[in-house]
Amino acid sequence: MALFSKSKNEKAWQAGNSLPKHVAIIMDGNGRWAKKRGLPRTAGHSAGAETFRKIATYCKNLGMDYLTVYAFSTENWKRPKEEVDAIMQLLEKYLVEAIEKMERDGIRLKILGDTEPLSDKLKALIERTDSISHELSGFQANICLNYGGRDEIIKAARKYAREVSEGRANDIDEKGFAAYMYSDGIPDPDLIIRPSGEIRTSNFLLWQSAYSEFYFTDVLWPDFDEAELDKALEDYAKRSRRYGGV
Ligand code: FPP
Repeated sequence: MALFSKSKNEKAWQAGNSLPKHVAIIMDGNGRWAKKRGLPRTAGHSAGAETFRKIATYCKNLGMDYLTVYAFSTENWKRPKEEVDAIMQLLEKYLVEAIEKMERDGIRLKILGDTEPLSDKLKALIERTDSISHELSGFQANICLNYGGRDEIIKAARKYAREVSEGRANDIDEKGFAAYMYSDGIPDPDLIIRPSGEIRTSNFLLWQSAYSEFYFTDVLWPDFDEAELDKALEDYAKRSRRYGGV
């Protein structure tokens, strides 16, 4: 692992209080990675799923609390059916394996997003994953699936407004609002990473990213590895987070 081959001095960013508790990643560049190799786009997604496995394990071993990844957005249904089906199959495969190994691996899982339009099989796997994760403690990986930041805010606003109009809540405030989001109970991400050279947030964690630090890199997601994450963490450790203060 890249981190452990560094000198004592270089590891200072980890030893101090500067390791983020929650890292979020937009797993971008799978299609371009595949194209460069003359492979179908779906091969890029398979490679991307492997990268997710590797990075989740690394985040857990570093001592983080949460990793959140953007796997499928509310807009990704516009992609060709074969590609959508391939991503859904990869997620099914991942969940089947995760259910078996969750206790041993110490990686709890949570799916964030609107699960209603998903297949019955995927919904059942998500339910099973949730119930096992509830029994465990420690590191948690959140997979955003059929997730859209605007969609999440609108759904939360609808539910909260109904609670107020029916007299179950007094007023609308930030803390109360956060409780209606998919991310209820999960601290906001400290650091959001986007590989593949794109410099935008693409509807990812709009509410939760208000004070997140951002890190962009040209590396395509399937090529992202522990050493690339170390670079992002090193950069993050140099930031001064003021949350609007001085
Ligand atoms: C963006 O790259 C990636 C996606 C829309 C899909 C991400 C899905 C996975 C990595 C697989 C399933 C995940 C897990 C957690 C098992 P892109 O296709 O837009 O790449 P491009 O911009 O190069 O075309």
